[in-house]
Amino acid sequence: MDYSALKQEAKQLFEGQTSDPQKAMTAVCELLQQNISYYDWVGFYFADQPTKTLHLKAFAGEPTDHTVIPFGKGICGQVAVSNANFVVPDVKAQDNYIACSIYVKAEIVVPLFKDGVNIGQIDIDSHTANPFTAEDERFLEWINKELSEIL
Ligand code: SME
Repeated sequence: MDYSALKQEAKQLFEGQTSDPQKAMTAVCELLQQNISYYDWVGFYFADQPTKTLHLKAFAGEPTDHTVIPFGKGICGQVAVSNANFVVPDVKAQDNYIACSIYVKAEIVVPLFKDGVNIGQIDIDSHTANPFTAEDERFLEWINKELSEIL
């Protein structure tokens, strides 16, 4: 997968919406979901520290019931406390997993840092088994860094 063209497009979306990060996030979710064949659902969750919950702020793909996720629950909730990327090649092998759709086979969650603090994450669901590589991790880290600059 060649991410350079996508990076350029994403950068334009972020730079064009510096005053409306919500709009930028939705546009970037759509860009990724439409252009990477194995990205079937793409969303950004943000942490609410007082209630220790994650809240879905933007997404592309099928609507999900899981718009609020407690820290520690599921792949997303675990990343809220671990501050580390979580790549799941086979969701069936995970005990602490929240199913969003019966079609999802794999998932990747990458934390989003602002000034060194884990404030949220990008979450990708895939209908393809074991599709994510280190390249996806680097790409999604880059997306989050660019986003953090307009937050
Ligand atoms: N599967 C996630 C829940 C969010 S959905 O993928 C949209 C999890 O286990 O945290």
